[in-house]
Amino acid sequence: METTFVMIKPDGVQRNLIAPILDRFLAKGFTLRGLKFMNVTKQHAETHYADLSSKPFFGGLVEYIISGPVVAIALEGKDVVAQARKIIGATNPLASDPGTIRGAYAIDIGRNVIHGSDSVENAQKELALWFSEGLVDNTPVLRGQIYE
Ligand code: PPS
Repeated sequence: METTFVMIKPDGVQRNLIAPILDRFLAKGFTLRGLKFMNVTKQHAETHYADLSSKPFFGGLVEYIISGPVVAIALEGKDVVAQARKIIGATNPLASDPGTIRGAYAIDIGRNVIHGSDSVENAQKELALWFSEGLVDNTPVLRGQIYE
C-alpha cells in the first residue's frame, strides 16, 4: 500500500481551509497515518525544497513556508501519490481544474495552499523528513456495531 506526504501551507491554514482540504482526501477513502500542526524551521523548509534551491523563487518559497504554521499529513491508500496530486490540481492555479483544491481555493502559484509529493520516491523521502518519528498504525476498525 502506498503512502504520500501532503502539507497544507500557511495560507491554507490562515484561511481556515484545514477541514475542507482534509475532507477531500478522507472522503475519497484514504487513510490518515499522520497529522501534525506545526511551525517549520528555515532549515527544515530548505531541506524539503532542496531540489529547487537554484530557482529564483527559492528564497521567497522558504519564507512563505516558515511564515506561519502548516499541517503535515501522511495518507495511505491505493495509488495515493498520484491520486492526491489529482485531488490537489496543477501547481499553477491558472491551470488547475476548478474541481481540484488549488482550482477551488488558490489564484497565485506563490500562495497555492497545498503541497503533495510528486512521486513514490519523493513521498518516501518527504515522509522520512516530516515524520521521522514514524507513522501511526491506523488499521481500519469496526465501530459502533456489535458483531456476533
Ligand atoms: S519547477 O520550476 O518546475 O521545478 O517548479 P514546479 O514543479 O512548478 O513547482 C515546484 C514547487 O515550487 C513552487 N513554486 C513557486 N513558489 C513560489 N513562487 C513561484 N513563482 C513558484 N513557482 C513554483 C510550487 O508551488 C511547487 O511547490 P510545492 O509545494 O512542491 O507544490
